[in-house]
Amino acid sequence: MARFTNKVVLVTGGTSGIGKATAEAFAAEGAKVVVSGRREPEGNAVVEGIRKAGGEATFVRADVAKEDDVKQLVAATVAKYGRLDVAFNNAGVEWTGALTDATEADYRRVFDANVWGVLGAMKYEIPELVKAGGGAVVNTSSIAGHVGMAGVSVYIASKHAVEGLTKSAALEFAKQGVRVTAVAPAAIVTDMVDRFVGGEHSDQGKGLAAMHPVGRMGRAEEVAAAVLYLASDAAKFVTGVSLPVDGGWLAQ
Ligand SMILES: NC(=O)c1ccc[n+]([C@@H]2O[C@H](COP(=O)([O-])OP(=O)(O)OC[C@H]3O[C@@H](n4cnc5c(N)ncnc54)[C@H](O)[C@@H]3O)[C@@H](O)[C@H]2O)c1
Repeated sequence: MARFTNKVVLVTGGTSGIGKATAEAFAAEGAKVVVSGRREPEGNAVVEGIRKAGGEATFVRADVAKEDDVKQLVAATVAKYGRLDVAFNNAGVEWTGALTDATEADYRRVFDANVWGVLGAMKYEIPELVKAGGGAVVNTSSIAGHVGMAGVSVYIASKHAVEGLTKSAALEFAKQGVRVTAVAPAAIVTDMVDRFVGGEHSDQGKGLAAMHPVGRMGRAEEVAAAVLYLASDAAKFVTGVSLPVDGGWLAQ
C-alpha cells in the first residue's frame, strides 16, 4: 500500500516549486491533498495535473499572512476530507539586500509570510491533527535557518524563526502525538532561485551551484522526498529536527 493512502495532507505555497512537487508526491502516494496558495489559476492547474495522474486533490485559496484565510483553509480542508493528518507549511518569500537598506515594510512582508505564515498555520492545523489522533507538521525552513549569510539578513532572520517555532511546537505537542519537523533546503531550482540569481544557467546561478559541495543546485522533487519521509511513519520517533536537503552545504 502507498505510504499515505487515506491520509489528508495540506500544502501551503502549493502552486509552484517545492510545494507543487511535494503536493504531487503526496498524491502519488495515495494522499488526499489540499493544495493552497494565493494564485487560483496555478493552483487549479496543479490540482488538474494530480487528478490526471490518478490522484485526489483540491485547491483552496489562502494568503498565509492572513489569519482569517488560514482559519478558513483548515476548516475547508476538514469540511472536504473529514480530517487532517499532515500539514506542509511551505509558503514563503525571499529578500535580498544590504541590512542598512532593509525597510519596515520589507521586514513585515517577509515575516508575515515566512513566520506568521507558519505560526498561524500551526495554530489552526495542530488542533485538527490532535483530533485525528496525531499527525505530522513539516515546515519549510532553509539552510538560511541554520547559518548567517551576508546580504540576506531579513530572510535569514525569518528562517531562524521557523527553526525556533518548529522546535517549540514539537515540544509543546509531543505528548499529543503531533510531530513537528522542518526541511532545510539549500538552493533549489524553482521560481525563487530564478528571482534570486536569474536562473540556474546565469553566471550568478552557476556561482551559486558551485557553492554546494555536490556541485549543483537541488531539485524540488529532492526536497519533496525528504518531506514525505518526515511526514511518514518511518519517522515516527523523529520530532523537533530540521533536516538539511542541501548537497552538503551545512557540512562545510
Ligand atoms: N528555492 C530555494 O532555493 C529555497 C531554498 C530554501 C528554502 N526555500 C523555501 O522553500 C519554500 C518554497 O519556495 P520555492 O523555492 O518553491 O519558491 P516558489 O516561489 O516557487 O514558492 C513559494 C510559494 O509560496 C507562495 N507564497 C508566498 N507568499 C505567500 C502567502 N502570503 N500566502 C500563500 N502563499 C504564498 C508563492 O506564491 C509560491 O507559490 C519557501 O518557504 C522558501 O523560502 C526555497
